[in-house]
Amino acid sequence: MQIIHTISEIRQQVVTYRQKGKSIGFVPTMGNLHQGHLELVKMALSKTDIVICSIFVNPLQFSEGEDFEQYPRTLDRDTEKLKQTGCHIVFAPAVDEMYPQSTVDGRDQSQIIVPDISDIYEGASRPGHFTGVATIVAKLFNMVQPDTAVFGSKDYQQLQVIKRFVQDLCFPVEIISHPIVRETNGLAMSSRNSYLSSAQKQQAAAIYETLNNIEGQIHNGIKDYSALQRWAEEHLNHLGFRIDYVVICDADLNKPEMQSKQLVILAAAYLGNTRLIDNLQITI
Ligand code: PAJ
Repeated sequence: MQIIHTISEIRQQVVTYRQKGKSIGFVPTMGNLHQGHLELVKMALSKTDIVICSIFVNPLQFSEGEDFEQYPRTLDRDTEKLKQTGCHIVFAPAVDEMYPQSTVDGRDQSQIIVPDISDIYEGASRPGHFTGVATIVAKLFNMVQPDTAVFGSKDYQQLQVIKRFVQDLCFPVEIISHPIVRETNGLAMSSRNSYLSSAQKQQAAAIYETLNNIEGQIHNGIKDYSALQRWAEEHLNHLGFRIDYVVICDADLNKPEMQSKQLVILAAAYLGNTRLIDNLQITI
């Protein structure tokens, strides 16, 4: 497995593989890899010849006061895991490589705005976040030139934002999603789970239980989604979470219509200082 830090070198490698007729799969990450990330890599390996995984903690998608500085950086451990999984190339550029000539982490450079969908739920709580995500993913796509890129549905809204700009801006990349990989207690795996104590990790499983409970109530015929959202917020509040949002929407993140068959329940909540997100896609 190769470890590459510069844009010129990744471009060179991609050209070499392309000349040999190899297809390229891509899994962008911010590192501190867990089994969820590795399943994405496995999915890419099953669909393409050469798999590139990027590790870059992108300052542009963090706001002031968020955990950019604190975000765990574990490159040696990550590269070992990727090697074991069969990944071919790790692309781990420095901030200066990705945002050259910028003293403000790319905030003074061209950015990709995905309207409307970037401003709700996660975007409402984290202004500018999805612009940062779309911009870095677009830059990475231009460097790696993948045929296929795999993203987790753990970040459901992020996945929709990426699909949108890829379509709007005609990127020749197939976007594939992988289901959420969970701990045995149901907690969605996340790099940020490393901020939680072991007691909090047990407690955090209540988010997934609550999403399942809502699903059960919807399958039992309850259609008053606002009441279900309120119930879930109160329930999680009671269990010690500080709720950011619990929403039931259609698959495109719009308010569900009576006839909507595909729904997604999205939740974001703080446990202590740690912000957790989760979701559940349901068919009715
Ligand atoms: P990161 O949080 O490291 O996640 C990288 C990819 O792994 C994303 O597609 C995310 O949805 C997926 N993922 C994380 N936890 C998962 C889980 N439990 N099950 C399935 N997939 C999971 O998302 C980002 O990084 C960044 O925003 C990025 C896209 C790399 C842009 O900087």
